[in-house]
Amino acid sequence: MSFVMESCTIKRVILSPLSRVTARRRLSRSIQESPMKFFRLTFSLGLAALLLVSQSAFADDPNLYLIKARQGEMQVRAFSAAPLFDMAKGKVPYDADRAAALANNLLVLTRVDIGAAWAPGTGKDKYPGKTTAKPDIWDNLDEVQKHGQEYDAAVNELVKVAGGGLDALRSKIGDLGQACKGCHDDFREKE
Ligand code: HEC
Repeated sequence: MSFVMESCTIKRVILSPLSRVTARRRLSRSIQESPMKFFRLTFSLGLAALLLVSQSAFADDPNLYLIKARQGEMQVRAFSAAPLFDMAKGKVPYDADRAAALANNLLVLTRVDIGAAWAPGTGKDKYPGKTTAKPDIWDNLDEVQKHGQEYDAAVNELVKVAGGGLDALRSKIGDLGQACKGCHDDFREKE
């Protein structure tokens, strides 16, 4: 920002009033001649300003990175689990290799050390619009952990069978769905 301020000051000093008038005329002429060019310029400036603002918001508050990280991990869970649910429901054809790989994704995610992304004070009360994590999480860590253990168990069971046929997948997918839902019902605000 200070860079922008400086360059403005420099321009004010260096450019004579006359050349400023000419520059303004040139700009208004070019707007008339090429509205598209003007639109593109405005758009790029707007985008640059937006990037500056959003980056500085993140730099100011590291908790926003934590929230993004845990939501990203949840998104990869959904990315991996959704096709498995679809296969189990018969919405897409069962594919043993794909099912095994997706279940393995879920297993790998259970081993990602991401506990720090759930820092106290990063719930929906403090970050409305940024997170759907209910603040009760941090008052009920035992409950959350129980859901987490049920989830881990469901993933561990699923990964053993996911590549072993549609019936085998179906026999374990319900527990996975319940584990996601159980925790969301208690600790994630409905959007
Ligand atoms: C132990 C609790 C728990 C379990 C188990 C769990 N989630 Fe979540 N999930 C949460 C919480 C809490 C949030 C809100 C996170 C936030 O907004 O900061 C969330 C958010 C999400 C989101 C939204 C992320 C975003 O971008 O806002 C998706 C998608 C998701 N979970 C998918 C899943 C899937 C799929 C499973 C099971 C395979 C699952 N979750 C299991 C607690 C859980």
